[in-house]
Amino acid sequence: MGSTDPRSLVVVGGQWGDEGKGKVVDLLAAGHRVVVRYNGGHNAGHTVRFADRRFALHLVPSGIIHPETVCYMGSGMVIDPRALVAELDRLAGEGIEFDDRLFLSPRAALILPTHGALDGAREGALGSQKIGTTGRGIGPAYQDQAQRRGLRAYLLAEPDRLRVEAERLMDGHNRELVEMFAADPVDVDHALQELEAAARRLAPRIREVGPELERHLEAGDDILFEGAQGVMLDLVWGTYPFVTSSSCLPAAAASSCGVSPTLLGPVLGIMKAYVTRVGGGPFPTELHDATGDRLREAGAEFGTTTGRPRRCGWFDAVAARYAVKVAGIDALALMKMDVLDGLDTVRVATAYRLPDGRVIDTVPPDPEQIETVRPVLEDLPGWSGRTEGVTDERELAPQARAYLTRLEELLGVPVVLVSTGPRREETLIRGDGPVSVRLREIVGA
Ligand code: IMP
Repeated sequence: MGSTDPRSLVVVGGQWGDEGKGKVVDLLAAGHRVVVRYNGGHNAGHTVRFADRRFALHLVPSGIIHPETVCYMGSGMVIDPRALVAELDRLAGEGIEFDDRLFLSPRAALILPTHGALDGAREGALGSQKIGTTGRGIGPAYQDQAQRRGLRAYLLAEPDRLRVEAERLMDGHNRELVEMFAADPVDVDHALQELEAAARRLAPRIREVGPELERHLEAGDDILFEGAQGVMLDLVWGTYPFVTSSSCLPAAAASSCGVSPTLLGPVLGIMKAYVTRVGGGPFPTELHDATGDRLREAGAEFGTTTGRPRRCGWFDAVAARYAVKVAGIDALALMKMDVLDGLDTVRVATAYRLPDGRVIDTVPPDPEQIETVRPVLEDLPGWSGRTEGVTDERELAPQARAYLTRLEELLGVPVVLVSTGPRREETLIRGDGPVSVRLREIVGA
């Protein structure tokens, strides 16, 4: 979808989020002067491990750990000012200095405490049909933006208007909370005090992102665009309505930053060697047995943001192929390959069978239909040797290499990076295409 010059790169989740984008962005940030996060809010949770330290990031781009990297948060994001300030304080507490290298688009939408309360109340009202949101107010904030009554980040630099407009909006939300959901209203005075305190901290960080990126490009800087969540959680192309409320696709990177799509560069899709999902919604390859439990334990599949256990299942090549197409993924990073170590058989869904026996090879738009499909599973031999920590493809067991080759055949794109453990070093680069060459340059492999 982007240009073929891999100086800039888009990193996009190819499944239902939690694919390990944080590790990849952290790794690649070493070769990019600029990292831009383009969608979502503090529903995301990236875990980055560095020098035996573990950083949980929710809003700030994962590039922040690298002292030379300049980070931007694009206009397609939703920002809870309190959450952002808390994250900055945590980073500062870890000794990460970011004063002149972290900026926020004035056009990003703001999340207020009443958005979180509405998120919870609406989910409660949906009962068993609930989406299983992170409860961070993401949907209600995007909804206010679409209804053209939301607040945007430029107001953080205008305290008087911020107070008036935030009070008006929160009063309206409180009426909805009380009258429609019989829920407790949010204390507006307290919320305004917190908002004003956060605004004072964040106002100096507001900068229009597009002109900044143009300036960087003119200076020859490489840009990494970091997507949150994943294609299957995209508002339009995911398993709607069991999705997030933002656009997770690479095209959103251009619109979020106000730059031409031709500036984006190749798209690196991030997928796990199996699949996980948090929250509700269809999941054709989900395992409800001991193998599912084993993947959850071995992969430490518990949410970074909410701590919820993740649902686990076999690699779904139908959903993955669909993601490759709709997101224009050029190459893949396959994460957590080591979690499959020691399984006798590894299975992959190659098609879906409908209740009437028909076989389909793509993801239908209707979630009720997706709920009814049964995956057509292909058995591949597992491997007994350890993948964990392997950095040279030749050291992989032949069955593990065969697994990678089969995924490439099924998806039609190369697997250029394989993650064999949580640390930066536990990474293997494959192939000799332009993305592989660029990755090797960055990682020094
Ligand atoms: P929301 O984004 O909080 O509205 O949640 C909507 C759906 O997206 C729920 O199923 C969440 O579990 C899921 N979701 C949102 N953010 C993430 C993420 O970063 N990783 C995985 N799932 C997510």
